[in-house]
Amino acid sequence: MTDNELKQEILRLKKEKNAVILGHYYQRHEIQELSDYVGDSLALAQEAQRTEADIIVFCGVHFMAETAKILNPGRKVLLPDMEASCSLAESCKADEFAAFKAQHPGHMVISYINCSAEIKALSDLICTSGNAEKLVRSLPEDQKIIFAPDRNLGGYINSVTGHKMVLWNGVCTVHDAMQAESVLQLKAEYPDAPVIAHPECNPALLKVADFIGSTKAMLNYIQRSGSGRVIVATETGILYEMKRLCPDKEFITLRDNKSCACDDCSYMKLNTLDKLYHCLRDEQPEILMSDAMIEAARRPIVRMLDMSRQLGIIK
Ligand code: 13P
Ligand code: SF4
Repeated sequence: MTDNELKQEILRLKKEKNAVILGHYYQRHEIQELSDYVGDSLALAQEAQRTEADIIVFCGVHFMAETAKILNPGRKVLLPDMEASCSLAESCKADEFAAFKAQHPGHMVISYINCSAEIKALSDLICTSGNAEKLVRSLPEDQKIIFAPDRNLGGYINSVTGHKMVLWNGVCTVHDAMQAESVLQLKAEYPDAPVIAHPECNPALLKVADFIGSTKAMLNYIQRSGSGRVIVATETGILYEMKRLCPDKEFITLRDNKSCACDDCSYMKLNTLDKLYHCLRDEQPEILMSDAMIEAARRPIVRMLDMSRQLGIIK
């Protein structure tokens, strides 16, 4: 089938099966184009909570589809490629994390949504990059906290809130590999362009950024920025939405610096039109979890959504 035929078939099957396609901003452009909702991790979790579709096809990575299943145990949740993992989730195994937790008694556990259901079940509260700062700020100053699995996001939150969270030593290999040196070279080439970066980037890069925020926060930033050109330090899939929102602006990515081509997430890019079509047609691969795991992992996610509403972060 040609790409066009695949797209037509996907739309037909979606309607026939009352399915909804949720897509992350880092997905391939053609997948974002076909998605009913495109968003960051927080918005997609919210959308997964309120959908009434019979089938959710999650075009993102495994932990996102798993979160959708946890919030919707009665619905079928599909992920076009089960291999679509995440280096952060991979870095944090449940047995090792349970031992780490045992070494820090009296600590509350906050886990970044980029982790497995097993880690969520061991957590008190989940956060995303879109709400982490506000959630942590809302806790008492002397609250002892373990933050997992992203040491870069956790370190950034520590630096802006004054908390001294104990950090699990995980990174997003895509954002962590982005180099401050490459950003500085681009800054020298485009002195008028502000640098925006995702908090999963390493501390040296964050130091040279003019704005740090989640994918959604970066999209808001480019719309209100008066600058016609922006240097973007995050995964390149986001360029599709950036260009859609601001067609007259120029977005410079780290790969525009010839020494750095490290800004694609191979996991996110595993989902293709062809896999999306087969997944909708065959209703496979499906996210399956035990009721006990769904129950245990659900508690801290619902707490995150409730707190985010109370703090006015989401509606
Ligand atoms: P957000 O969508 O929360 O900005 O997270 C980015 C990310 O790395 C998702 O994998
Ligand atoms: Fe995980 Fe990083 Fe890929 Fe996001 S971009 S899915 S954090 S490896």
